[in-house]
Amino acid sequence: MKRIVLLLACFALLWVGCKEEEPIAIAPDETDPELKAVQRTLLHLDYDYTTNLPRYLLAAGLQPVPVNNAKAALGRVLFYDKSLSQNGRISCASCHDPTRAFSDLMGFSVGVSGERMERQSMPLANTANFAAHYRPLDEHGSPPLLWDGRATSVQEVARLAITNPHEMNMTIEEWIARIRARDYYPYLWRKAFGHAKPTETEAFEAIAEFVGAIGAANSPFDIAMERNAGNPQGSITTDTVRSLYYGPIITTRVVPPPFFTVSEFRGMRLFTNHCSSCHSPIRPFQTVFEACNGLDLEYKDQGKGRRTKKLKDNGVFKCTSLRNVALTPPFMHDGRFKTLREVIDFYSTGIQHHPNLHPLLRNFDGSPKRFNFSEQDKEDLVNFLKMLTDFRPGGDVRFSDPFRR
Ligand code: HEC
Ligand code: HEC
Repeated sequence: MKRIVLLLACFALLWVGCKEEEPIAIAPDETDPELKAVQRTLLHLDYDYTTNLPRYLLAAGLQPVPVNNAKAALGRVLFYDKSLSQNGRISCASCHDPTRAFSDLMGFSVGVSGERMERQSMPLANTANFAAHYRPLDEHGSPPLLWDGRATSVQEVARLAITNPHEMNMTIEEWIARIRARDYYPYLWRKAFGHAKPTETEAFEAIAEFVGAIGAANSPFDIAMERNAGNPQGSITTDTVRSLYYGPIITTRVVPPPFFTVSEFRGMRLFTNHCSSCHSPIRPFQTVFEACNGLDLEYKDQGKGRRTKKLKDNGVFKCTSLRNVALTPPFMHDGRFKTLREVIDFYSTGIQHHPNLHPLLRNFDGSPKRFNFSEQDKEDLVNFLKMLTDFRPGGDVRFSDPFRR
């Protein structure tokens, strides 16, 4: 009997010993109740948010904007915090889902009211680097935000989303009061701003820091471009990138460059000839940022025109980036097309003779272009659009939901 007890005691000791060897993810700090509140509610938050842009994008003129990691970490929590909406069920992420390139699959997004919104949610990971993309780069300035271009900063959009009765339906005062009432914010605020009394400006700044850090520069297209642009000296110039991307406009080349399939390469040619001015995946090569693309003769939603009340703005919408486009159906401001194939069919034969139709989509006599794409062309274009999409499942942990459930 004694022996059994002794043996059991030994096992118990061994077991305790093993337990003590196990690594502890975050060392609990008994002395800091603010940190304990964070650890109780949230997952790991310490990440480096700076985007590593591929060299070919740097060469083309994009620059990563330096990110303040403490502010971005705080912004991530605010972005996912459902308790900051009127019914406690909606956060920014409800309509900007990280597994859907920060868009959603609904034709019209649904907020706290349960009613459908008037327009499709927009993807946020759709740019090489959101902040870099929206930074003014040239005389065209910074492209505006939202389908009708009515905002110029993420701060402004966030304020609209929080106060919109169909989105989060809060007054800014209620919103800040809720932030102040949550026990996990003081610690995060101190790290980001050096004090623990949240203000409105700081909250928006943190959200913008997080959204600005979201990047999508790792699609098969980026990988192929980077590999093709690379040379032993490691120096890539704008000209290298431009010639790889645009190449000779009328090309007889049938053999694709390395890392492109024949179909993707043909799709890229069609795309750079007909679509790139408005939708370039290499932002410095995009020249048109808003346009009427002739979806309708009479628009139900006049887009920019509804806001400015000017005839010339009717039917004008933002030219969205097509990075990650395969993850964000349905398409267009009203989600009218379910598949990329339907979009291509529209551009092939369906462009309407709207008075504001952009000149790039008109023939010399002013009539709408009929691209009349062949079956093969359509397949090639869709394959190229898929190449702009990063399909890796789960997305990037730095941008994922930080709440323990
Ligand atoms: C109920 C759904 C919903 C919620 C919640 C929501 N959004 Fe949006 N978001 C949209 C829709 C719809 C659009 C396009 C709206 C338009 O153009 O009128 C959009 C557009 C945007 C854009 C513009 C993107 C671009 O390329 O122009 C940004 C940035 C954005 N939202 C950030 C946020 C942030 C930050 C939050 C949280 C504070 C948030 N959104 C909450 C639905 C939502
Ligand atoms: C003159 C500028 C212009 C040209 C050229 C153009 N587009 Fe567009 N495109 C737009 C605009 C503006 C929108 C948004 C329209 C809306 O929702 O009302 C759009 C929307 C789209 C969308 C939907 C994006 C989304 O997130 O819902 C796709 C896909 C698309 N275009 C592909 C193409 C392809 C492929 C070509 C070439 C065959 C092309 N576009 C040529 C301006 C253009």
